[in-house]
Amino acid sequence: MIIASNFKTNHTRASTKDFLETLKAVGTTCEVRVFPPATALDCFALPAHIKVGVQNFYPAQSGSFTGEIGAEQVEEFEIESVLIGHSERRHLLKESTELVRQKYAFARAKDWEIIYCIGEPKEVREAGFDAVRAYVEEQLVGIDVRYERLIVAYEPVWAIGTGLSASLEQIQETHQYIKTRLNAPLLYGGSVNVENIGAIVGLEECDGVLVGSASWKKEAFVRMLEAVKTAH
Ligand code: 13P
Repeated sequence: MIIASNFKTNHTRASTKDFLETLKAVGTTCEVRVFPPATALDCFALPAHIKVGVQNFYPAQSGSFTGEIGAEQVEEFEIESVLIGHSERRHLLKESTELVRQKYAFARAKDWEIIYCIGEPKEVREAGFDAVRAYVEEQLVGIDVRYERLIVAYEPVWAIGTGLSASLEQIQETHQYIKTRLNAPLLYGGSVNVENIGAIVGLEECDGVLVGSASWKKEAFVRMLEAVKTAH
């Protein structure tokens, strides 16, 4: 089971360190991933099951890409886990499909672990499951789904940061479809919290979760890890 926390634009360098120190003391059989903001990255001494990754990077070793971090900066911290395709980057930051594909190809060539995020906006969900399938299918075009260090996160846009998680049936139906297309571990993300995490990770096709807001308090994240333990 993979339990990941996406800090987004939250936490400082000091609070990230404190968060990770707390996690180190928690007994879990889960693979844990934490994605702090770039300013909080460091060479953390962590047990093998906890890895820090980056929320974003520019697909270049280094160069003139003002405001971006490249592989040189990522590798300084021995980081090899990256988020690609998050809906906030696609929609709020206007990251194009072309750039998403370039980042994927770059990370794959680097042999980094990729958490590739896909998921439909509200109007697509409302148009019915055929539309959802077509939308997700489009997000897989140009992506090597056989890459062995790929993890896919299904995160419906309408469920992110809204407090309205997809229903278990919606998660399951979409996961089942995605599993017909690829063999990578499959996560769910979108308003996961301490209360619903147990049922979500209990779904047959679900290999874990990518959590935003409900994971930012270290005590809550620890409770989620405990809830997963109880659910299995
Ligand atoms: P929330 O858990 O805040 O809905 O965010 C989910 C997410 O975007 C994880 O990447």
